[in-house]
Amino acid sequence: MFGKNHGHGGLTFDVPPAMDAAEAARIAFDHDLSLSKHHFVEGEHPVVRIEHLMKTFDGETQVLRDVNLNVWNGEIVVVLGPSGSGKSTMLRCINLLETPTAGHILIDDDEITGKSAKEVGLIRRDLGMVFQSFNLFPHLTALENVMIGQTKVLKKNKDEARAEAVKQLEAVGLGDRIDYKPPQLSGGQQQRVAIARAVAMHPKVLLFDEPTSALDPELVRDVLGVMRELALHGDMTMIVVTHEMGFARDVGDRVVFMEGGVVVEQGLPEQVFDNPQHDRTKQFLGSIK
Ligand SMILES: Nc1ncnc2c1ncn2[C@@H]1O[C@H](COP(=O)(O)OP(=O)(O)OP(=O)(O)O)[C@@H](O)[C@H]1O
Ligand SMILES: [Mg+2]
Repeated sequence: MFGKNHGHGGLTFDVPPAMDAAEAARIAFDHDLSLSKHHFVEGEHPVVRIEHLMKTFDGETQVLRDVNLNVWNGEIVVVLGPSGSGKSTMLRCINLLETPTAGHILIDDDEITGKSAKEVGLIRRDLGMVFQSFNLFPHLTALENVMIGQTKVLKKNKDEARAEAVKQLEAVGLGDRIDYKPPQLSGGQQQRVAIARAVAMHPKVLLFDEPTSALDPELVRDVLGVMRELALHGDMTMIVVTHEMGFARDVGDRVVFMEGGVVVEQGLPEQVFDNPQHDRTKQFLGSIK
């Protein structure tokens, strides 16, 4: 019954095969109902399903140890945890920037783990990512940065891509900066271009890895404002790794606390912040107050 996945160079994990979709959805529904502000609809399936995710580097450094998590359509999940707890590694596994060592990740009940390079390209279209360091093309304008994925990856024609890019740049408050190149923009503006670029691809899930950590404090607010708008008025599903506790509390449908490569605790923001159940969560939240 158990599928064997081999880590490189030694560690071997026995994880069960991915669960049957309907059964998994039922169990996830019962499990998450009281943990999230998401408006659950009877019979719905999670958009992201992570089962027994393991990630080991160099055959011995085990960074993710049996992560299990579901994310629902339109849900805003905020991931907190100390440095080195595996937050980035989990996000990078979800969009296959890292190859999971064992376990399963399913998007709309399709397993994305164990696919060929060609399939990975297709899958990644559904998983947008906003990085701490923006990752824009410095020689392209804001407009071109937001168009390029649409034309190259989605094969949209230029007029369509341009119209979408203008729309998304306006939505992040950069309608008057579309012809600027990244070096001519502030960090906060660059990050807003990166958000517009990700949204313009209309991914199923948008992943954010500490999107405001590289910004000066006065620029953080603008970027959080854009993310808040997207969360509250877009129909986007978001997984946000951040240290911005105000954002987590106000905008999160659910807060997930990770440490040591596992999900230690998760729940409604007010549950986790005001009444954390685990000592490690208490310690962490105490240390950042
Ligand atoms: N490519 C890699 N090779 C070896 N070890 C790695 C690699 N990437 C990450 N790690 C290790 O995995 C652990 C988790 O890293 P990760 O970046 O996921 O943590 P994090 O929770 O995002 O931390 P931070 O808050 O500092 O960003 C760390 O101990 C890190 O050194
Ligand atoms: Mg990180």
